[in-house]
Amino acid sequence: MSGHGDPIPMMSRKGGPLRGVAEVPGDKSISHRALILGALSVGETRITGLLEGQDVLDTAKAMRAFGAEVTRLAPGEWVVQGVGVGGFAEPADVIDCGNSGTGVRLIMGCMATSAISATFTGDASLRKRPMGRVTDPLALFGARAHGRAGGRLPMTVVGAADPVPVRYTVPMPSAQVKSAVLLAGLNAPGQTVVIEKEATRDHTERMLRGFGAELSVEETPEGRVITLQGQPELRGQAVAVPRDPSSAAFPVCAALLVPGSDILVPGVSQNPTRNGLFTTLVDMGADITFENPREEGGEPVADLRVRHSALKGIEVPAERAASMIDEYPVLAVVAACASGTTVMRGIKELRVKESDRIDAMARGLEACGVRVEEDQDTLIVHGLGPDGVPGGATCATHIDHRIAMSFLVLGLVSQQPIAVDDGSPIATSFPTFDGLMAGLGATIERRA
Ligand code: S3P
Repeated sequence: MSGHGDPIPMMSRKGGPLRGVAEVPGDKSISHRALILGALSVGETRITGLLEGQDVLDTAKAMRAFGAEVTRLAPGEWVVQGVGVGGFAEPADVIDCGNSGTGVRLIMGCMATSAISATFTGDASLRKRPMGRVTDPLALFGARAHGRAGGRLPMTVVGAADPVPVRYTVPMPSAQVKSAVLLAGLNAPGQTVVIEKEATRDHTERMLRGFGAELSVEETPEGRVITLQGQPELRGQAVAVPRDPSSAAFPVCAALLVPGSDILVPGVSQNPTRNGLFTTLVDMGADITFENPREEGGEPVADLRVRHSALKGIEVPAERAASMIDEYPVLAVVAACASGTTVMRGIKELRVKESDRIDAMARGLEACGVRVEEDQDTLIVHGLGPDGVPGGATCATHIDHRIAMSFLVLGLVSQQPIAVDDGSPIATSFPTFDGLMAGLGATIERRA
C-alpha cells in the first residue's frame, strides 16, 4: 500500500562494513516551521538546507495556497515572501498535506484565527490520524471544524473572525498540538499561554523568538509554561536548517550494527529535546563521539563519529520518550540485535503516528524471528545478539517512512535478507536514503 504513487518494494541484505561520510538531509520539523513562519512574516525569509522531502514540499505548496510567495532558488535554498500575521488569504482549493501530521496540524493552527475557511486532506495514513487534539484547543479561540467521524480528515476549519486568546494545557506530549496553539495565538489579541507537562521539541518556541515574537518560557511545578504575546509583527529571517537527528538515526544505527563500520555524520542537531536516541545508544554501549560541537542556525549541532559496537539491552527511561519519539522504530531494530532485553515504556503516542508503530514494529520483528511483548504503552524486545536475527521476511510498512527504513537497516545484519512491501514513503523525510546508504557500502535495492 502506498500514499499517492505506486508502491516501491525494497530489500536489504548483509554485506561489508559501512564506511565514509553520511550527509543526512535538513531537519523536517525545522523545515516545516521555516516555511510557515516565513509565510507569516513581513518581508523575505531565506532558507538554506531545507529538507526537500514530500512532507515539506506539501507545506510549501500549502503556504502558496494561503498567499505567500515560495520560490526554490537551488537545492535546499528557498525564499519565502510572507503575508504577515493575519494576512493569510482563503485557499481556492483543498489543502492536501500528503503524509504529514506536522504539516496539517501546524497549518490548521496558523489559519484558525483568521476569518477564512480551508479544507484539509491527506493520504490514506494521514486520513486515519486524529485531528481533534488540535481542533479542540483551536475551538477555544473561536474556530470551528467539521470533519469525518473521530475528527478525521478531510476536514474544514472555519477560522475565528474575532479570536480570543487562550490558556491551554496540552493533554498529551505533542509538539504539534503545542505548536498549533502557539501559531493560532499569533493572530489573537493579548497573551496565549500553553502549558506542557513534559517538554517536547522546542523548535516553534526558538523560531518564533528568532522571527521577533515576544515569547517566554517558565519551568513551574505545573509544567513548562509558554506565554506568547499576540499580534506581533514577525520579520523575515535567514534560516540555516541543521541536519535531522531523526534521519541521522538510520545510518548511525546501521553503523553500530554492521561489523567493522566507522562513519561520520556531520552537522546533526543535538537539541536536547531531540537527542534522546543518542543518549540511549550510548547507554547500550554504543561507540559514538560527538565531535566539533557548535551552534548553527540557533541549534546546537555536532559531528557524530560512529563505530560498530557490541550492544546490550536496557530499560529506556520513560521520561526520555518525548526526546526520541520518532526513533523507537529503529531502536527496536537495534534492540533485536543487542544482547538481552530492551524495555520501552511510556510510548503510547507511537500508536497515532504515520502508522501504529508499536504494532508495525512488533509484527515485523516477529516475522523476522524476534520475540517481542507489547501493551498499549510498551514495547519489549528480546534481543538475539549480533548475528542472531533470522530475517527472511517481507515487512509491511503501512505508509510509514520510519518503519520502512528501520526494517531495511535490520536487513543489513539479519541472516537472510529483509524486504519491505513499500519503500515509497521514505521520500517524505529522507529522499536520499538509498543513495546515501549505498555510498556507505550498504546493499539496499529497489525491486522491480
Ligand atoms: C513533530 C512532532 C512529533 C513528531 C513529528 C514531528 C513536530 O509529533 O512525532 O514527527 O515537528 O512538531 P507529535 O506532536 O504528534 O508528538
